[in-house]
Amino acid sequence: MGARHSMAITQLIYYSQPFGFDDAMLNGILLQARRNNAHDGLTGALIVRRDLYLQLLEGPEQAIAATFAAIKRDNRHLAVKALVQDSVAARLFPDWSMRDDPAQSWLWTEPEVGDGALERAGAAALREVFARVAASPTA
Ligand SMILES: Cc1cc2nc3c(=O)[nH]c(=O)nc-3n(C[C@H](O)[C@H](O)[C@H](O)COP(=O)(O)O)c2cc1C
Repeated sequence: MGARHSMAITQLIYYSQPFGFDDAMLNGILLQARRNNAHDGLTGALIVRRDLYLQLLEGPEQAIAATFAAIKRDNRHLAVKALVQDSVAARLFPDWSMRDDPAQSWLWTEPEVGDGALERAGAAALREVFARVAASPTA
């Protein structure tokens, strides 16, 4: 109980471009992410499309920093770019060591993403994407 209240939550949203994308690779990433995150007190969600990983990670600041450093070095994706990093009052995905969702039709399109739409979107719109995912049933 105590830890839940004494520990500030850092929220990180980043995006990247899958490199050599397929189901086996995605399953490997998710297995690793879930095992590590459960151990590190991290939760979050990964939105997946052939052109895009869009991930929200939330948890203690040090664990976020260490995990994001590893993620940036990972050669299963390219062009890793942080979009939001902030302190938040509560987790969006408290019950998910890493939820995974295919990109829905309402997300920015592949051409829009290629044209930098995510970098122009702003923190509120990016958080809204994940709030919408959190509110929807899993596929
Ligand atoms: C799109 C993507 C998302 C990832 N998400 C996470 C994550 O949430 N947590 C995590 O620990 N590793 C994640 N990884 C894997 C890390 O990049 C790295 O391979 C892993 O943390 C190394 O773990 P290990 O030292 O236990 O092998 C992700 C990798 C990719 C490509």
